[in-house]
Amino acid sequence: MAITRKDFLKLGLVAGGAGLAPSFGASASPPGGRGNATTGNLLRSVVRLPKPFRVSLPVPAVLEPVRSDADADHYEITQKVGKAEILPGLQTEVWGYEGSFPGPTIESRSGRATIVRQINELPVPVSTHLHGGRTPASSDGFPTDLILPRHRSSEEHSPHAHHGNPDNKAGWSFHRGSKDYFYPLEQRAATLWYHDHRMDFTGPQVYRGLAGFHIIRDDEEDELPLPKEKKDVPLMLCDRAFGEGGSFLYPSLYPSLQGKGGVKEHYMEGVLGDAILVNGVPWPFMEVSNTRYRFRILNASNARRYRLALEPEAPDGLPFVQVGSDGGLLGSPIPHRTIPIAPAERIDVVIDFSRYPVGTKVTLKNRLGLGTTSRVMRFHVVRKEKEESTVPRRLSDMSAFQALGESNARFTRKFRFTQAAHNGHEVWAINNKVFDPSRINVRPKLGSTEIWEFATDVHHPVHLHLAHFKVLSRNGRRPLPKDAGWKDTVDVLPGQVVRVISRFDGYRGKYVFHCHNLEHEDMMMMANFRVV
Ligand code: C2O
Ligand code: CU
Ligand code: CU
Repeated sequence: MAITRKDFLKLGLVAGGAGLAPSFGASASPPGGRGNATTGNLLRSVVRLPKPFRVSLPVPAVLEPVRSDADADHYEITQKVGKAEILPGLQTEVWGYEGSFPGPTIESRSGRATIVRQINELPVPVSTHLHGGRTPASSDGFPTDLILPRHRSSEEHSPHAHHGNPDNKAGWSFHRGSKDYFYPLEQRAATLWYHDHRMDFTGPQVYRGLAGFHIIRDDEEDELPLPKEKKDVPLMLCDRAFGEGGSFLYPSLYPSLQGKGGVKEHYMEGVLGDAILVNGVPWPFMEVSNTRYRFRILNASNARRYRLALEPEAPDGLPFVQVGSDGGLLGSPIPHRTIPIAPAERIDVVIDFSRYPVGTKVTLKNRLGLGTTSRVMRFHVVRKEKEESTVPRRLSDMSAFQALGESNARFTRKFRFTQAAHNGHEVWAINNKVFDPSRINVRPKLGSTEIWEFATDVHHPVHLHLAHFKVLSRNGRRPLPKDAGWKDTVDVLPGQVVRVISRFDGYRGKYVFHCHNLEHEDMMMMANFRVV
């Protein structure tokens, strides 16, 4: 269909107009009905990629607190340049928390405060966001609440170099060298992650390595007979392309990440790499016994969507039993044959390897990928072991979730996530407005319940800070099976209208909501709400 972007904008957004949206932004998607699977363009590595399933899966180390007192656990993380052998024989420069990619995992108890001192030894400003955290606004990692490099660089960073209104410094704040983030963590057990959130540069800075897990545990979850310890494994999925010498390849307009942000025009719909990394390693393998394992799967890719599947499937039953989502455990488990996962979503699943004979190699596939991106990792069922876990039919108390009904909602607010023109450039916008850090777009009242409606042109994974929500409907129909439970990111498909409901409680203050395709986010598909 030959509709240009401009025509598309003129036509406006047609709710449920499935025929319109896939006409652009799908060049990396395989043909044959999967055209709207991912929005983005493929960037190819210039070095040879390794053979898959040769390297064993690493699990990021759990960070020790520097001290614990009666009120909180205190951590220190230094963001710095590091080296990693991601491709055999080559050293990749990473920008990582503690210099590693992924960063170290933080483990916290629900209701016990965690304080993280982030120290910036990188050459650029950073802001650190705890994704999925119910966090006071001052510690939420607002995009313009920046930690400047500890060591002053020749160029000082001013808001003038950024998007937004250059005459308006309102909404910017700067910390020299470090900032203490205060996380009360008054929330249930869940798989959170922390990542960079610097205005205009989140895409390239996460791509260079600034992402890690933060897992919250609680008593309710501990009492369940789910797989534990070595069998409770976080998996961070992301795609990357590699340049000369094994460097991360990213199409920044200004690769120093010092001046203006943005990517080359061809990649504005999203950067897709041709290598799939799990916990920072390309297509790893993991040896397992013939028992159940729990995998906390996070899609930390900038733009890539996956549809996860197992190959071979065991003859009996569905491959994945989902036990949790973005906001923690489900009320009861949900079996899936395949699971679509958009950027920033978390899917917590149990896989039962007892259904395979010892010796079987089971591949985790990506049904939305082609060639190198069609596979993710592999499990080798190498030994027998006594089963100690089960998946109970009742997982968690969801009474607060069930109580969240449409009749409680005071407002329905509508947001259109589309491409738009801004100063003669194509950018991404919400209700035709580009991000301005000082503009408050909506003001939900503390404790009030609202329905938010997201409509799209192409695919946009929509994320709200602070407020966890329930997905009510997609194009007026039932949500997808994977939309179940508490969510903070919803995978809005092309030409869809998705309705979610949330109670805005926790804290007053200014928070962002945005598309979690990081190229869209950097190209201004973000807005503020202030809880009043
Ligand atoms: Cu995962 Cu505003 O971010
Ligand atoms: Cu977030
Ligand atoms: Cu988007």
